Amino acid sequence: MTKPRAMLAGDDPDADPTISCLAAIRAPPREAETAPRTADGERLLCKKFCRGGADGAAACARPDCPDAHVPIAERQVCWTFERYGVCKFEEARERDPAAPQCWFPHPTPPPATHHLALQVEVGMSDRVVSRCRELLGDDVVVGAARADLSRNGDVVILVDGGAGGVAGAATALGADKHLLSKLKRIYATGGGPGLVADASVCGDSADALDDALRATLASLVDAGVSGGDAKVRARCFPPRTQKVILDALHSALDSRTNARGGGWETCARMDDATHVLDVVAVKGRAHVTVWRTDPRLHGVDLIQLLIRSCEDARKERDGSGAMCRAFHKIEEATRRAGVTVDPAWRCVDVGAAPGGWTQWLCDNGLDEKKGGRVYAVDPAELGDFKRGLPNNVTHLKMRGEDAVGVVQRDGPIDLLVCDANVSPEAAAGIVAGFIPALRTGSTLVLTFKGATKGFAEWRRQMEDAVVMLTRKGFEPPSVYHLFSNCSREKTLVAKFAGGLSDSSGKKKDNLTKKGDPIDPQKAMKDADRARLLLARSLAVFATMPGEFAEAHIKARGFNPPPNGSVRLVRGRLLKILSDEVLSESSWHQA
Ligand SMILES: C[S@@+](CC[C@H](N)C(=O)[O-])C[C@H]1O[C@@H](n2cnc3c(N)ncnc32)[C@H](O)[C@@H]1O
Ligand SMILES: [Zn+2]
Ligand SMILES: [Zn+2]
Repeated sequence: MTKPRAMLAGDDPDADPTISCLAAIRAPPREAETAPRTADGERLLCKKFCRGGADGAAACARPDCPDAHVPIAERQVCWTFERYGVCKFEEARERDPAAPQCWFPHPTPPPATHHLALQVEVGMSDRVVSRCRELLGDDVVVGAARADLSRNGDVVILVDGGAGGVAGAATALGADKHLLSKLKRIYATGGGPGLVADASVCGDSADALDDALRATLASLVDAGVSGGDAKVRARCFPPRTQKVILDALHSALDSRTNARGGGWETCARMDDATHVLDVVAVKGRAHVTVWRTDPRLHGVDLIQLLIRSCEDARKERDGSGAMCRAFHKIEEATRRAGVTVDPAWRCVDVGAAPGGWTQWLCDNGLDEKKGGRVYAVDPAELGDFKRGLPNNVTHLKMRGEDAVGVVQRDGPIDLLVCDANVSPEAAAGIVAGFIPALRTGSTLVLTFKGATKGFAEWRRQMEDAVVMLTRKGFEPPSVYHLFSNCSREKTLVAKFAGGLSDSSGKKKDNLTKKGDPIDPQKAMKDADRARLLLARSLAVFATMPGEFAEAHIKARGFNPPPNGSVRLVRGRLLKILSDEVLSESSWHQA
């Protein structure tokens, strides 16, 4: 089986161009390399002239040369730099300074306001970007950069905390420990209390940027550090800049008469530092911030708390006693969707082995004395539970498809979870089979595994599964790409609106037949319930992924708005659904 390709933030066609650098690496189009042109695209460049570097005129002296002899600034922008913020020629020059320079300009975009830079693996970038948007608003991600052109390198994501600044951004992000556990480093990149120097340094090539940093860093640290005995911890992105920065600081210190010339020295550990120097380079612009590690300063206290919380989140994950990694997936899914496990819930865990999800349910709310129990359905053996298999867990050693009758005998189900490693289509089929056993208002947690041929097929199956489940009585679901999911795996959480009303197992008839006498008290209760359902649906709509909203629109025989933003698509769906409700409701007909 080929390894599934990670879904990267820049791969989303709706994505902001500021994060296009996070997309999967592709080779430039052939014409960009074989037929380079002038900036206006009008004329072909003389390659001989370009090859001549700064002295191109000496390389091609033909006065009648048919191709353009123009300086680098008048040529088309480097395709790779424009898209990824890094260029293979500059990477080659890091290994061999004699390697040729790129022929094309690397323009530095105008500065943007941001407060934090989050360093993560590129494969996590889509999840980090969308979670930041959920927690802080649609416009918070204002830029990104990759360390290099490798497939699995690190990236930084620049976050604008808006009016709340550093403190606002740090507080919002700190709410999600699953996000924190994936952040490798957090840099301060903007002004604020305790952030004593805040500057940006530019260079139109990697060499020029390094030179500019060498020339200015020491004086920026001087400006940021007042008083003696300061210890400065330097941190930077991309990691290759570390050497440039430390060399610049050390040579500034060496050249001063007093070895501690500016009243500061460098240190290697965050715990020893009185100040931190953060340098984050994005497309030829290095954001330089010096901040005091004084916990009494509001703003930096929160950055430090955030940095510590990342470490704590990783430790908590490692020390959770989880039987397997899947344990964290159900934890994250329920937390994201705001589902709390009731002690008395009757749960079915399909694809339960080795038992992480069952373990999580038993440890997080179920109470045997109150009737809480789990049917762990899996043809495979369960793993070792620390204190043995709990009394309220029954292992049904069979396929989910065959277990419906067995679990149904004891009464309706409050929570159905399914992490079986089957395709989204098959998983939705298993869930549909359980519908006769579900209580109204029960919860579904379902993993869509990448067990399909290709990415497009996986997406199609997920969309179809969502449409099918909604038709069968589930409320519009939330589909998450969780930090605990692998790259091609998503987790759906939905409430079941149809089905069984109580333990009698009788089907609830919640449709008022035309002509029935109206009971005012019942009508009021119904209206309350409808309002609650509507409020919940609206909350789901607000975060529903565009692709699923489009699928719903198509399933109802309408066309989604052409080139519509996710918001427009959601709006269109809402309109269609409310029309549907109006045309069906009894009071409208009356
Ligand atoms: C990724 S593991 C589930 C891990 C589990 N959630 C945990 O936390 O330990 C997938 C499981 O699905 C089971 N499985 C596959 N198809 C199934 C089916 N049709 N019915 C029930 N289980 C199935 C496999 O036997 C396998 O143990
Ligand atoms: Zn020429
Ligand atoms: Zn280039």
